[in-house]
Amino acid sequence: MSIELIDRVKHLIEEIKNSKPGTREELEAFRLRFLGAKNELKPLMGEIRNIPDELKKQFGQFVNEAKLAAEAVFEAVKEKVEQAADEAAIQQIDLTAPGEPMPLGSRHPIATTHMNRIVEIFSRIGFTVAEEREIEDDWHNFTAMNTPEDHPARDMQDTYYLKNSTEMLLRTHTSSVQARVMTAQKPPIRIIAPGRVYRNETISARSHCQFHQVEGLYIDEGVSFADLKQTLLYFAKEMYGVNSRIRLRPSFFPFTEPSAEMDVSCFLCGGSGCRICKYTGWVEILGCGMVDPQVLENCGIDSSRYSGYAFGMGIERQAMLLHQITDIRLFFENDVRFLNQFRAAF
Ligand code: DAH
Repeated sequence: MSIELIDRVKHLIEEIKNSKPGTREELEAFRLRFLGAKNELKPLMGEIRNIPDELKKQFGQFVNEAKLAAEAVFEAVKEKVEQAADEAAIQQIDLTAPGEPMPLGSRHPIATTHMNRIVEIFSRIGFTVAEEREIEDDWHNFTAMNTPEDHPARDMQDTYYLKNSTEMLLRTHTSSVQARVMTAQKPPIRIIAPGRVYRNETISARSHCQFHQVEGLYIDEGVSFADLKQTLLYFAKEMYGVNSRIRLRPSFFPFTEPSAEMDVSCFLCGGSGCRICKYTGWVEILGCGMVDPQVLENCGIDSSRYSGYAFGMGIERQAMLLHQITDIRLFFENDVRFLNQFRAAF
């Protein structure tokens, strides 16, 4: 009986040493059989009580040898088998199969609709793009632009000042770029400045604390209001269709004199009156005017020699009217279900 058991262990040792598991499946079968929780060596070890005392030690050593042999085989082939399996998997890959389609993003409706188109329209008539900092100082944003110390726009309520600063702020309009350019360049100056601006507004469907503007500035000898009007008419026709008309209403801005607001004939109804234009036939698009001589002087430009015009417009409101978007917050949430609708807008 005990001799038989010892023979069985010896046979197992032989079998183990001669095993050559070649595939992942064979190796796993081998592991289960000799090293797993229910391996064949365990019950054999249980038989030790049937072995006469003088052979117990020897028997135990054989069982242990079987276990060590199994571990040695397993370790010896494991890496090779894994490698072979990986190689086999690679062989399975069809290199001629077409790739997975990559989901393409879409341009943001703000960038697409407005900023880019506006910039492009003005580029065609000689305006160059000026991009400037969003973190500005009080001087470029307000003082140079003729906005007096006590002007309500400077109020902490409307302007985001940097922490512990009364000097540095997030620009409240792209008009700050006018001051940047006029202090750095000599006339003639003809720039278009797109960018983001910030105001401390309560966020709602109609207003946001960040939005986009495009600013235009033209300074040269003999620039007149007629030049401004003609340029804006060109812009309106390019932007909103050849049949567009414009009208200028007197207004006030600290940095222009005279100042005006420009309406364009409603791009939806053509001027006959609809929901978009609130049945007036006109849609307000921008603020503009002749650059106040004081602003030229503030920026070191001789106002007796040079004159100029400027204009500035908000982007989101135009885009909302054009696409009949009712909530400005949608522009800043980056929800692809919203953005995807503008994939091929232009
Ligand atoms: N900066 C003005 C605003 O944010 C817009 C504006 C009005 C800009 C008239 C101009 C201008 O350049 O001439 O409301």
